[in-house]
Amino acid sequence: MIPLSSYLTIVLIAVLFSYTSSAVYSTSIHEDNFLQCLYTYSHNSNSSISKLVYTKTNSAYSSILQFSTQNLRFATHTTPKPLVIITPQEVSHIQTIIICSQNHGLQIRIRSGGHDFEGRSYVSKVPFVIIDLTNFREIIIDVENRSAWVQSGATIGELYYKISRKSRNLGFPAGACPTIGVGGHISGGGYGTVVRKFGLAADNVIDAHIIDVKGRFLDREAMGEDLFWAIRGGGGASFGVIISWKIKLVQVPSIVTVFNVPKTLEQNATKLVHKWQHVASKIDENMYIGVILQRVNSKSNSTTVQALFQSLFLGGVDKLIPLMQEKFPELGLVREDCIEMSWIESVLNLYGFPKGESHEVLLNRTQATKDIFKVKSDFVKVPISENGLEGIWPMFHEDGAKDAFMYLFPYGGIMDNISESEIPFPHRYGNLYQIQYSAHWHEVEKMKFNWIRKLYSYMEPFVSKSPRGAYINYRDLDIGVNNINGYTSYKQASVWGVKYFKNNFKRLANVKTRVDPLNFFRNEQSIPSRFTKRGK
Ligand SMILES: Cc1cc2nc3c(=O)[nH]c(=O)nc-3n(C[C@H](O)[C@H](O)[C@H](O)COP(=O)(O)OP(=O)(O)OC[C@H]3O[C@@H](n4cnc5c(N)ncnc54)[C@H](O)[C@@H]3O)c2cc1C
Ligand SMILES: *[C@@H]1O[C@H](CO)[C@@H](O)[C@H](O)[C@H]1NC(C)=O
Ligand SMILES: *[C@@H]1O[C@H](CO)[C@@H](O)[C@H](O)[C@H]1NC(C)=O
Ligand SMILES: *[C@@H]1O[C@H](CO)[C@@H](O)[C@H](O)[C@H]1NC(C)=O
Ligand SMILES: *[C@@H]1O[C@H](CO)[C@@H](O)[C@H](O)[C@H]1NC(C)=O
Ligand SMILES: *[C@@H]1O[C@H](CO)[C@@H](O)[C@H](O)[C@H]1NC(C)=O
Ligand SMILES: *[C@@H]1O[C@H](CO)[C@@H](O)[C@H](O)[C@H]1NC(C)=O
Repeated sequence: MIPLSSYLTIVLIAVLFSYTSSAVYSTSIHEDNFLQCLYTYSHNSNSSISKLVYTKTNSAYSSILQFSTQNLRFATHTTPKPLVIITPQEVSHIQTIIICSQNHGLQIRIRSGGHDFEGRSYVSKVPFVIIDLTNFREIIIDVENRSAWVQSGATIGELYYKISRKSRNLGFPAGACPTIGVGGHISGGGYGTVVRKFGLAADNVIDAHIIDVKGRFLDREAMGEDLFWAIRGGGGASFGVIISWKIKLVQVPSIVTVFNVPKTLEQNATKLVHKWQHVASKIDENMYIGVILQRVNSKSNSTTVQALFQSLFLGGVDKLIPLMQEKFPELGLVREDCIEMSWIESVLNLYGFPKGESHEVLLNRTQATKDIFKVKSDFVKVPISENGLEGIWPMFHEDGAKDAFMYLFPYGGIMDNISESEIPFPHRYGNLYQIQYSAHWHEVEKMKFNWIRKLYSYMEPFVSKSPRGAYINYRDLDIGVNNINGYTSYKQASVWGVKYFKNNFKRLANVKTRVDPLNFFRNEQSIPSRFTKRGK
C-alpha cells in the first residue's frame, strides 16, 4: 500500500557504506551535517523534505513541537528540546532520517500521538531529532474482510470514526482517549472498554510495516515472526519506526448500552467497590464495568470520595438489567441509569463528550484538557479487603489528591484465555483488574510527586508481586534504573523490564540484539541490546 521508490536501494547502499565507516557514537553535534545529509539523500523524493524540516530558527518550530506534547510537564523552558523536528510525508524520508542521524551521531525520538506519560517521544537528554508522524495517517478500511491498514500517525479517534462511517457493526478494541496515536498505543498493547471480549489492540494486529535500523522497509513476512512478535506490545521505539499496522476489525452489535453510576462513601462506596472486585472480571465478557475513584465535594460542603461505576454493555438494556440484578444487585442499577446507543456513540459518551456531540469531534487531534501529570500502574490478583480500601480514602483528602484519580479497569474474559507469551504484554490469566494512579496539576510550581508515590507504596501489599507488574503504555520512570546516556546493562534494565514484560523481557532483548545490536533506537526504557557495552 505504501509505494517505495526503487532508487532508494541504491541511495541506501551508498549511505550505509558511509555509516559503517563513521563514528556512530560521536558525541559532537552535527546538526548542519545532518541537514546536509538529509537534503542530499532526499532530493529524489516526490516531495522535497526541506519543507518538512523544522530547526530552532524556524517560526513554526515551537508550535509543531507543542502540538503533540500531551503532558505539559515536558513543555517547560528547562525541558531539553530537539535540534530538529521532521514531519516526513514519504517512507523514503524516514529511511533517510534514520541513516543520516546514525551518520551524524544524533538520537531520534519517534512521535505518533505524543501521549507517552513520561514524554519519551519528544524529550531526550542527548542531542536528538524528532520524527513526528503527523503526516502518516492514512486509514484504509476493508469492510468485507473486516480488516484495515492504519498508519501510525493516525489517532484512535480517527480510526474509530473511519470505521463507523463504513459500518455500524464494526469496531476496534483500543483505548478511550481519541487523541492517542496508533503508533505508540499498539506498540505498547492498548486496551479499552471491549478488552474483555476482544483483547488488546496489539492482539488484533495481523501485519505491519516497519523501517529498521538499516533503513529497510519490512512487512510481516520480511521482518520475520520474532520481530513481528516484539513490536506487538514490547513498547514503541526499541526496534524501528512502525509505519502502519494491518488490524482485524471486530464485530459490535447495532445497539450497546452505557451507564455511569456515581456512589460516594456515604452511599456505601466501600462495600460496592469491594463487591465489584468479585464481579467485574467474572461477569459476561460483553460487559465492562470500570471504577473511577476521586475526591468530590459532598453536600455538606466538605469533601468525600466517589466511586464512579462506568459501564459499556455490548447489547440492549433488556439483557443488561437482569444480568446486573443477578450479578451485582447491590449497585441498584435501574433502567433510567442506562442509555442505548451505537458503538461509536458509546466511544464519545464514555470519554465524556456531551450528548449529541458531532462524531467529527473524534477527528480533532487537540486534547480538550491538557495538563501536567504523573501516572503509575498496578495489577490486582486478589480482592482488596474493605479495611484495605478504607486505608486509601484518607489519602484522597490530602492536598496532593486535588484533581487526582484512581482508575480500576477489569480484566478477565478473553484476557484469561490468551497465553502470557502470545505477545510481549504478559498480564493475562489471574489478573482481576488493572489500576491507573493519576496525579494532575495545572502549574509546574505546584507539581509534587510525594502523594502518588505514597499511595503507590501503600498499595504494595495488595497488588501483584515478584514482579510487581506495570503496564508499558503507562510508562513510569520511577520503577527501575533508567537508561540515561543510552547504555543500561541488560541486568539493570531487567528491573523495570520484568515488571512490564515478565518472562517476555528476555525474548525482547534477544530480538533487539539481533535487529539493532548497536542500540540505535533507544530511550530511557527501551529494550537493551545484549551486545551493548556499558559505560559508553
Ligand atoms: C489522556 C491519555 C489517555 C490514555 N488512555 C489510554 C487507554 O485508554 N488505554 C491504553 O491502553 N492506554 C492509554 N493511554 C496510554 C497510551 O496508550 C500510551 O501513552 C501510548 O504509548 C501513546 O501512543 P502515542 O502514539 O500517542 O504516544 P507517543 O508519545 O507518540 O509514543 C509512545 C512511545 O512509542 C514510541 N512510538 C510512537 N510511535 C512509534 C512508531 N510509529 N514506531 C515506533 N515507536 C513509536 C515513542 O517513541 C514513545 O516511546 C492514555 C494516555 C493518555 C495521555
Ligand atoms: C511518487 O511518485 C511515483 C511516480 O510518480 C508514484 O508512483 C508514487 O505513488 C509517489 N509516491 C508518493 C508517496 O507520493
Ligand atoms: C479478502 O481476503 C481474501 C483472502 O485473503 C482475498 O483473496 C480477497 O481479495 C480479500 N478481499 C478484498 C475485498 O480485499
Ligand atoms: C448501605 O448499605 C446498608 C446495608 O449494608 C443499607 O442498609 C443502606 O441503606 C445502604 N445505604 C445506601 C445509601 O445505599
Ligand atoms: C463552603 O466552603 C467555602 C470555602 O471553604 C466557604 O466559603 C463557604 O462559606 C462554605 N459554605 C457553607 C454553606 O458552609
Ligand atoms: C479541537 O479541540 C480543541 C480542544 O477542545 C478546541 O479548542 C478546538 O477548537 C477544536 N478544533 C476544531 C476544529 O473543532
Ligand atoms: C475462554 O476459554 C474458556 C475455556 O476454554 C471458554 O469457555 C470461554 O468461552 C473462553 N472465553 C473467551 C472470551 O474466549
